[in-house]
Amino acid sequence: MTAHLLGIDGMDRAEIEELLDLTDTFAEIGRRPIARVPALRGRTVATLFFEDSTRTRVSFDTAAKRLSADTLNFAAGSSSLSKGESLRDTVDVIASYGVDALVVRHPMAGTPHRIADWTDASVVNAGDGSHEHPTQALLDAYTIRQHRGSLDGMHIGIVGDIRHSRVARSNVLAFSALGAQVTLVAPTTLLPPSLVGWPVRVSQDLDEVLPTLDACYLLRMQSERITEGLIPSLREYVADYGLNATRAARLPTEALICHPGPTNRGVELSAEVAADPRSVILDQVVNGVSVRMAVLFLLLGSGRELLERSESEAGA
Ligand code: NCD
Repeated sequence: MTAHLLGIDGMDRAEIEELLDLTDTFAEIGRRPIARVPALRGRTVATLFFEDSTRTRVSFDTAAKRLSADTLNFAAGSSSLSKGESLRDTVDVIASYGVDALVVRHPMAGTPHRIADWTDASVVNAGDGSHEHPTQALLDAYTIRQHRGSLDGMHIGIVGDIRHSRVARSNVLAFSALGAQVTLVAPTTLLPPSLVGWPVRVSQDLDEVLPTLDACYLLRMQSERITEGLIPSLREYVADYGLNATRAARLPTEALICHPGPTNRGVELSAEVAADPRSVILDQVVNGVSVRMAVLFLLLGSGRELLERSESEAGA
């Protein structure tokens, strides 16, 4: 059976921890003078992005290259989709190039799952609508663990547009599987219509929650998915939920400030807060490559000994 990574939903603590442990190995490889191992030589990883992306696509591409895989990049904007080609045909064309993994981002929830039914390649969900973004959650959990040792017993606040955020969904599942308590902080209009089954607490009072947090995870307003007026005005939203320096002073000195990017400075966080020593936003970006190397290796790789040698030693 082909292995896929479609969501954090369905992964248990042991599986998540195995991935985070393996990520340590790839983080070490990333620090070598030649950050390249022959583990996926001869395999092909394709990125299929039907939505804009900077860090996720570049990060997967870099991860595949560091594993010596061949890469193939498809971006919807410059493709034959604009000539009326269907999703199915597009996937069949890309798969026919002999692709071993398809990394898929799509505005519609469930698309990577459908693609997984159509192909023999391993499918990695790189964000499907407001549903899931599993590698983001894994890199976030890795970053927090790197700074704190463990998520067990931590209190993590996720602040902002939870309703439209695939990152929030995947993170709630990952953080709570790893033993953290999660509080969602947002106006009710920016919460999902039902939170039944979500292992979370909810608050509308950021100032009250901040002093109790070990990590404050900020989200962008997903304006591309907002079709109705869910907040009275951006100014009022910023006044109530934006993390500025005064507010950040309420966070414990050891607390971490996280954001998946892209950030909208002056909305969910101020420029000062982005530069706060407690911000681990750039660490998240760096760790994204290592986590995605671990994911691709687990799905496609064989032979851990191929991790021991750098690509030049392996006679590339
Ligand atoms: C997130 C996404 O695309 O879901 N970004 C990312 O992958 N780093 C969050 C966002 O777009 O706000």
